[in-house]
Amino acid sequence: MRVPRHVAIIMDGNGRWAGARALPRPAGHRAGIKPVRMCIEKSAERGVEVLTLFAFSSENWKRPVSEVGLLMQLFLESLDREIEELSKRGIRVRFIGAREQLAPAVVASMASAEALTRDNQGLTVVIAFGYGGRWDIVGAARRLAVACRDGTLQPEQIDEARFGQELSIGELPDPDLFIRTGGEQRISNFLLWNLAYTELWFTDTLWPAFGADDYAAALDGFAERERRFGRTQAAGIDAC
Ligand code: IPE
Ligand code: IPE
Ligand code: MG
Repeated sequence: MRVPRHVAIIMDGNGRWAGARALPRPAGHRAGIKPVRMCIEKSAERGVEVLTLFAFSSENWKRPVSEVGLLMQLFLESLDREIEELSKRGIRVRFIGAREQLAPAVVASMASAEALTRDNQGLTVVIAFGYGGRWDIVGAARRLAVACRDGTLQPEQIDEARFGQELSIGELPDPDLFIRTGGEQRISNFLLWNLAYTELWFTDTLWPAFGADDYAAALDGFAERERRFGRTQAAGIDAC
């Protein structure tokens, strides 16, 4: 069965999951940790190479201070609790997003998790935290502009491949499969450039309720898709 090399997930619906149970929103965020573990485990089992998880967007800063604080605390706690076990399992962890706005303790934990797992050879888990697709593209454009100004790059040398290298996920393959839980059918400023030819999978299941069967259904659904990348049918199949 065809397995996506890179799966990217918008983990949405925590608040609604909690609301439906008359619980406060933080309870939904806490319950959202279990499916993260499951997706990491199943991705490694199935031979997925990269799993990118959207945990906090550049727009999520606009949420009430109390919710932002809770999300930061939960992120820090979970990372510190899980990182050694993840590393023992050969998982490499990377973070993408703007770190300037984050508390020093959060930035320090991210850096040590990346350093600890850098040489691991298993599944790469990319956590998008404080990430926005437009932020990513603007950052790449700015770095390329600076290189041109400094004379280390010529404008003619900028092509899609060079531009892509400058983005946060850089050398990693573009996502093959995108999953969004929680029923909304939008990209919400996730990996705008990299999702150009990604297969999209939307499910109404709220993130805390996303189980192994739901993930398997998305992976199985991907295997059924015919990817053409703009080519004709037969050529598209050859290209996969
Ligand atoms: C996703 O769940 C988690 C984050 C965006 C951090 P939400 O908090 O967006 O939950 P809903 O969409 O309001 O249910
Ligand atoms: C997208 O969910 C961001 C994350 C899951 C981290 P949102 O809940 O923030 O997206 P919108 O506001 O519904 O588009
Ligand atoms: Mg949401």
